[in-house]
Amino acid sequence: MLKKTLAGLGAGALLLGMTACGTEGGGGSGGDGNGGCVSEGGGGASDDGLVVGFAQVGAESAWRTANSESVQSAAEADDRIAELQFVDAQQEQENQIEAIRTFVTQQVDVIVLAPVVETGWTDVLTEACDAGIPVILADRGIEDADEDLYVTRLGSDFVEEGRKAGAWTVETFADDDNTRILELEGTVGSAPANDRNSGFFDVLDEESLPYELVDSQSGDFTAEGGKSVMETFISTHGLDDIDLLYAHNDEMGLGAIQAIEEAGYTPGEDIQIIIVDGSKAGFEAGVAGKLNYIVECNPVFGEQLMDVAVQVAEGEELDKFTAVEESVYGPDDFEAEVDNRQF
Ligand code: AHR
Repeated sequence: MLKKTLAGLGAGALLLGMTACGTEGGGGSGGDGNGGCVSEGGGGASDDGLVVGFAQVGAESAWRTANSESVQSAAEADDRIAELQFVDAQQEQENQIEAIRTFVTQQVDVIVLAPVVETGWTDVLTEACDAGIPVILADRGIEDADEDLYVTRLGSDFVEEGRKAGAWTVETFADDDNTRILELEGTVGSAPANDRNSGFFDVLDEESLPYELVDSQSGDFTAEGGKSVMETFISTHGLDDIDLLYAHNDEMGLGAIQAIEEAGYTPGEDIQIIIVDGSKAGFEAGVAGKLNYIVECNPVFGEQLMDVAVQVAEGEELDKFTAVEESVYGPDDFEAEVDNRQF
């Protein structure tokens, strides 16, 4: 299909997803009728297809690159989508806010936002709402107070990912008197950092595992961040009495592995390591024995997202949150799974 440029679109012709901010009773999926952005249902996709604006977080990880490719290739292959306006926000919320304002000015049909952090969205999402443009959250979520300002979220259950990491920790260190833990957190204020932290420690507390969180710092989901924070951990605490490193994503875990090796320790043996994502590079480190557990975070949901965009534009009722499928992998799985990884 020949994709149109946004400049070539009549602004009104493709305005399919009708939303309204107001107090009228909501029958749609976007809110509760108490002043939120309530979907009224759209007129269905026109022959020309939808124009979708996508404010992506950035390109900080293999996960993110795979997610961008999945969304872009799904939009390209989908005849119901006329145009995907893609913005790489370089991990800056202000760039995402600017992108959303541009999408509103351009009167795109649907806005997809992968919010870099959870807070600070009220004003700009109200502007999208006032313009009658429905918003879908992809990947990360935002604070509950703003839940009426988007229609639905498609992405990972980050709390559940943290709980899976916690369950493995409880099982692995069940016989220890005191498990000493280092945590490499994702971007401060982001949903995956907040939820992977709370899910993990909730399980440890629920199961009464004796543990000590020796240190926890953000590596901003990047390899450089993970390596640099791990170097600080090592110089501050040493590694001799540390049992576990819990890294909120592959890049930070892989950066930390480098720092651990440079300090003369053996990752996966001297210190056990959990990572979240499950990239090919992560699995290769697992095959090499350098880490011990992988909690999968699945970025390949572009086709599902296009379905959701069309459903939202047509005013269909949707659940507020749809979780993508994800698994977990231990040392016995690494070899068999490494060649199956898509990113
Ligand atoms: O929001 C998903 C997280 O963002 C992934 O775990 C991480 O790799 C990415 O930066």
